[in-house]
Amino acid sequence: MPRSIFLLVGSILFFSTLVNCGKRIQSDDSSLAIGGLESHGRVKRQMMNLATKWNGGQINYFFTGVFEPIEKNKLMLAAMEYISNRTCIKFVENQNANQRLNILLSRYDNFFMKRHLDLFFSAAGCDSKLGAPGTRSNPSGQEVLNYGGCRRMMSSGVHELSHSLGSIHEHARPDRDNYLIVNETEVRRSGGAAQMNTTPYGMTTLYVPFDHGSCMMYSNVMWGAPLMTTKDPAYERTLGHRRVTFYDMERINKFYNCGCAVNLECQNGGYTSPGDCKKCNCPSGYFGKLCNERRGFDSFELNATSTWQSKKIPFQYTFTGDNYGHFHSTYAYITAPANKEIEVKIDKMENITCMYGCNFAGIEVKTKEDKRITSPLLCCEDQTIAKKSFVSKNNPTIVELFSRDPTGPSAVTFSYRYVDPIRFG
Ligand SMILES: *[C@@H]1O[C@H](CO)[C@@H](O)[C@H](O)[C@H]1NC(C)=O
Ligand SMILES: *[C@@H]1O[C@H](CO)[C@@H](O)[C@H](O)[C@H]1NC(C)=O
Ligand SMILES: *[C@@H]1O[C@H](CO)[C@@H](O)[C@H](O)[C@H]1NC(C)=O
Ligand SMILES: *[C@@H]1O[C@H](CO)[C@@H](O)[C@H](O)[C@H]1NC(C)=O
Repeated sequence: MPRSIFLLVGSILFFSTLVNCGKRIQSDDSSLAIGGLESHGRVKRQMMNLATKWNGGQINYFFTGVFEPIEKNKLMLAAMEYISNRTCIKFVENQNANQRLNILLSRYDNFFMKRHLDLFFSAAGCDSKLGAPGTRSNPSGQEVLNYGGCRRMMSSGVHELSHSLGSIHEHARPDRDNYLIVNETEVRRSGGAAQMNTTPYGMTTLYVPFDHGSCMMYSNVMWGAPLMTTKDPAYERTLGHRRVTFYDMERINKFYNCGCAVNLECQNGGYTSPGDCKKCNCPSGYFGKLCNERRGFDSFELNATSTWQSKKIPFQYTFTGDNYGHFHSTYAYITAPANKEIEVKIDKMENITCMYGCNFAGIEVKTKEDKRITSPLLCCEDQTIAKKSFVSKNNPTIVELFSRDPTGPSAVTFSYRYVDPIRFG
């Protein structure tokens, strides 16, 4: 009982803080003016490169309104480290720089006010402008990133910093209608038109493929009522998820032309990390310098046979002192003989909160042949795919169990076997 009460409150706070995330990037006309969308004729060229970039890929930042030293600024620093570990973007604390980011943790200079207003739907705000301050011909000045009202998740920091670096929302990509069905009536009713318009500027389709699991995506129920659904029903719970994806980082690398002098022989879709050219950036589930290793701890090796075998895997988020607001993942690697496909059937989910975005805990059976992209996420018993089996050509097929649920352990039981590929005569 206490668990469900906690989760309900958690979900309310979760959605209420989401509401403000990124709103400013499109409601503030001055940010649109940065790109100079004067005429339609120029849109095509502007799609190449619209947002103002940070000079030398360096964000000069400083914190203001710091009243909760334990968490919010630590989460933001972790978000910066997450980005700088994987891209050529650098973060330097400097409030006198010509181009600078004021990370506002609270609008109130009174601890009591902040405590209460933050509880009531992120009065402190959670938004950022698109791209660096100034214009492309004169990139200078200060911009504010409101972080006080963001969810207590590392990835919320990555989301807002990505806006500042030039990333638009995933559901505003010009190609989103290939993947999403947006309810225009609900868009008008909720007043969210500016957020849902496709936006031909910033980092768009030119950089990485559309990813349902991107940390730049809103949830299906952003403003309460269903705002959008996925064309592929398997992805119905994936939108609004907040692990940061491989493509979320690759997009930044491409936009800022990050690269390394020497390219390593990265495996499984990885590429040489501009954050550390001595190793690769790897898709989730692949480890080691070249992305050809499996994780040696908190992981399971399973050999599929032609008959079903069952496995129960407990998994849990444990607070270790410096992972507050991060997801923790446990991996199962299912291997089959060559030329076989792997079938996985979810039998039972325990202590997994059902919600859009699967942001407490969930399961990702990595069936997509592009190992870099997010496969459909599961966290609800009634999900259309939950009772179905997944068939995957990936060998091994990785089952990732992720959690940031601090209230206790979860578990999933699944069956697996190998099958012959279906042949068409
Ligand atoms: C960044 O990389 C360092 C060195 O590999 C590692 O210790 C740290 O955990 C990484 N941090 C994040 C947030 O990825
Ligand atoms: C779209 O949204 C409107 C208003 O919220 C709602 O009445 C309608 O049923 C929705 N349509 C679909 C297809 O979900
Ligand atoms: C799976 O197969 C490999 C190679 O045949 C073997 O080394 C390993 O012990 C097996 N693992 C399990 C859990 O059966
Ligand atoms: C589910 O949660 C309860 C309460 O935290 C815990 O006692 C139980 O062991 C959990 N079950 C599993 C399978 O993790």
